[in-house]
This record gives sequence, structure tokens and C-alpha cells, in this order.
Amino acid sequence: MKGVITAGGLGTRLYPLTHVTNKHLLPVYNKPMIFYPIQTLVNAGIDEIMIVVGGPHVGHFLNMLRTGKELGIRHLEFAVQDKEGGIAQALSLAEVFAEGDNVTVILGDNTTDADISKDVAEFTDGARIFLKEVPDPARFGVPTFDPQDPSKISKITEKPKNPDSNFAVTGLYMYDRKVFDYIKTNKPSDRGELEITDVNNRYIETGSLTWSKLSGYWRDAGTFDTLLEAGQHWAKKAK
Ligand code: G1P
Repeated sequence: MKGVITAGGLGTRLYPLTHVTNKHLLPVYNKPMIFYPIQTLVNAGIDEIMIVVGGPHVGHFLNMLRTGKELGIRHLEFAVQDKEGGIAQALSLAEVFAEGDNVTVILGDNTTDADISKDVAEFTDGARIFLKEVPDPARFGVPTFDPQDPSKISKITEKPKNPDSNFAVTGLYMYDRKVFDYIKTNKPSDRGELEITDVNNRYIETGSLTWSKLSGYWRDAGTFDTLLEAGQHWAKKAK
């Protein structure tokens, strides 16, 4: 299993802070945001990691992470995403790095204390996603459960106006090698991006997507409010 962290984008929701560095290097309490998803992967036994960077401050990642060894990474690679093409497009840049292995993908602004080592150890093929009940599902990818069999997801809708459930699809995904073929057939969405939700829907269509609830704390720290809240959470946990 290899790990991929997506850390591109302009971070416009965090202007003016992101005029001077990348969103994923901003502090969440006492660490840069990107340390949290790295820790999630390393704690799950994944120590070969590619970070897909982008935006005007790509060099800052090297300054911050160097070899990655101090964080428990055995092999660290970077890819540069030229344009803001979406999460699926960022993931496509990891195809050569993956070398046909399965990949665990985590978005660089997702902080969680969930232990996914069992999921990583047991994953063989298809796709696996992790859900979390949230008060504001319209901000996320949202699953619709099959009314005949609520253990199955029938589709995922990206930022629905009227969400079918109170669950968010968290930015933590596991895929087999087919993911790269699926991305190649993706069409850009209305926001001009290759959506990871479209990739997940492809796996649903082929009956090969499984899911579980993410246990523990999870927050996407990409807005001022969630950045503050995530910082407060991790500060409390550190004491
Ligand atoms: C992305 C995904 C969305 C997911 C969310 C989790 O949203 O597109 O499906 O629920 O991450 O953080 P974005 O942060 O690009 O708005």
C-alpha cells in the first residue's frame, strides 16, 4: 500500500493567509496542517508517500518536510500539479509512483485521530471510503443509501443542495490500481475540476465500493472556522 496526500490548490477560502504560503503549511495548533495527514498514514503503516503540491508556494513543502524521515516516512516523493484541476487530477499524477499497488489517499487539509491501520491491512481491491456524520453535509460529498439495503451506497453527490443523508464523505479513500483508468475517463465538473466523487461513483456502478464510519475526530481544516476549531481540538488533546 502506498500513500498519496493531495496538497495543491490556491486556498482562496483562507486569503489573505494563503498569499504567503500554501494552505497545508498553515499551523493547526503546534504543527503545520500537512503533518496530521502524514501521521495518519504513517500510523497505519504506510511509509512510502507522494505529496501532490501546487499553487505559488510549492517550494515551501521541501523546506518544511525535507526527507520526511523525522515524521516516519521511509520514501517521500513530490509531484507538482500545474493547475487547480481537482483532487482526482492530483491523484492521477501518482500513477507511476503507485507502480500498480493499492493507494490510500488523504486530503492535505483533513485532520483526524482515526486509526485506519486495520482497514489498510485488510484492503485488497475496489474502493473504500470513510463517512462521518456532520451538521452541514451540503459542504461535502454526501452518500445516498439504497432504501432496499441501507448498508449499500447507491450514489454520492458532490455538495448537494438537499442532502440525502447527514453523512460527509471524508477526504480519506482507498483504491486499487483501477482508479487511474477511471480518472482518465472523468470529465470536468461545473467547477472545472476532475471530481473524486465521480471516481467513487464509478466504483459504486461496478459494485466494488465499500465504506465504514470513521471513528474519532475528523475535520477538514480548509476554512477559518474549521482551522480554528481543529487547532483548539488538537491543543486540548496535547494537554
Ligand atoms: C472535497 C471533496 C468532497 C469531500 C471533502 C472532504 O471537497 O470533493 O467530496 O467531502 O473534500 O474534505 P473540497 O474540499 O474540494 O470542497
